[in-house]
Amino acid sequence: MRLLPSLLLSLTCALALAQNFLPRPVQWSPLMDAPAKPLMGANLVADPAFPLTETYIRPRIGATAAGQTTLRLIKADQHGDFVFGPEGYAIINEPGKDLIIEAATEAGAFYAFNTLDALTYQGSDGKAYVRPGLVLDRPRFAWRGVMLDEGRHFLGKEQVKRMLHLMSLYKLNVLHWHLTEDQGWRVEIKKYPKLTEVGARRDASPVMGDRNKSDGKPYGGFYTQEDLKEIVAYAAKFHITVVPEIDMPGHASAAIAAYPELGNTDIPGYAPKVATSWGVKQYTLAPKEETFRFIDDVFAELCPIFPGVYFHVGGDEAPKDQWNKSAFAKGVMGREKLKDAHELQAYFIGRLEKMLQARGKKLIGWDEIQEGGLSKSATMMVWRDWKWAQLAAERGNPIVMAPTSHTYFDYGQGKRPADPRFDVIGGTLTVEKVYGFDPIPPKFTPEQRKLVLGCQAQLWSEYIYNGAKLEYMAFPRLQALAEVAWSDPAGRSWPEFQARLERDLEGLKGLKVNYRRPDGSPAVTDKVGRGE
Ligand code: ACM
Repeated sequence: MRLLPSLLLSLTCALALAQNFLPRPVQWSPLMDAPAKPLMGANLVADPAFPLTETYIRPRIGATAAGQTTLRLIKADQHGDFVFGPEGYAIINEPGKDLIIEAATEAGAFYAFNTLDALTYQGSDGKAYVRPGLVLDRPRFAWRGVMLDEGRHFLGKEQVKRMLHLMSLYKLNVLHWHLTEDQGWRVEIKKYPKLTEVGARRDASPVMGDRNKSDGKPYGGFYTQEDLKEIVAYAAKFHITVVPEIDMPGHASAAIAAYPELGNTDIPGYAPKVATSWGVKQYTLAPKEETFRFIDDVFAELCPIFPGVYFHVGGDEAPKDQWNKSAFAKGVMGREKLKDAHELQAYFIGRLEKMLQARGKKLIGWDEIQEGGLSKSATMMVWRDWKWAQLAAERGNPIVMAPTSHTYFDYGQGKRPADPRFDVIGGTLTVEKVYGFDPIPPKFTPEQRKLVLGCQAQLWSEYIYNGAKLEYMAFPRLQALAEVAWSDPAGRSWPEFQARLERDLEGLKGLKVNYRRPDGSPAVTDKVGRGE
């Protein structure tokens, strides 16, 4: 890359974050007292390696006007003087020269343009100008995610798209989409229409503010496969990969209610229903060949829709009572020489992994996938005790950190209004605590550190019943998580971040984001229920 000696010499300014970068880049070296460049009407000269950039750059720079700045988009070597990697970029804005963006991939160029917004200000003539200086940047982690649960509440396509757009502002790149639950199955599977006819509906939901009371109102919703494709394509524009989750063998009451033969039919009192209350439910899929065929059919329909390599199979909170009571499940344990129901869970997850591998996918699951033995190639999403991260690391399994301690955004954020609509599942997770999160467990060796793919925020939706509540729970904790996932921890400063966050939230007002203010109120309305 063409590093400019003058800019490199101004490294002392690297932390002069006058610009509102969020997340913070690896390096920002402003050129003091140099003139800014006009951005509008720039003449774009892009390497053919970036065929898609024109579509999102052009709206920001407008039609080319004669005599304006030349904006050069140059293909960099991923492993040159500065290690760009697959998502890094450089912005070089030197007086009297072209404005240069270097990136090794289209994703890098996309992030560069996102950062260019933070470098751009409105001059006294009302036009946009880019501050002079050098930005060098690349993410700390490859997996920078948000887990969205639509099993408990169905938010719908427009809100998911809005969330993808908001994620893209902070360079987040994975939407882990939790699509099935005890309380609802949310995806069309053409071979099994009852999954949505029966499984996407429940008779009632708990009341906000009094979880033991029922509202008595039928509730439902699901995505057609066309909807899924539309969302995946929309996410791709922002370089966001959508990772679907079909939760198995537990959290599957809705699927079992739709097709009761998939469950443990030989136990006393067997009567599956789509759940109408929150909490862990007893119904689990039975370890039958018929069930495995069903799952493979579901994979057959969903794998081509989600082009990413990972497929999430859940694996969490699957009670073993039904398997222990089922003569059939016990027979499988005997046949497969499994010591107990935990080993049966490992057998079950192992079967899913083989099916996914045959479809070119990698299995990822919650940390219970280690129960009864962890496959060598599975990726573990650590949500409970950090000791599971240690176990995965010792065995060489990749890890995504999603611990309750720092990433459960269904927990309260501190003070909140007494209105029952602000109800949360429990617990407290402040923005400051999220900001202090290090996804690398402290005892990891340098080799083990490489196994940590990244981290993500969890938006479990028992108490997230519409888009406004979603945004209220997500922001501003999501900005803190985005910085944890992208930026180097060296130089992290809570007071410095707070100042940037405050300015950033001003910007989100323009998008009518319903973020939580420090006094606990939402940003754009005194109601959480915007859109009700
Ligand atoms: C989980 O919270 N059950 C992953």
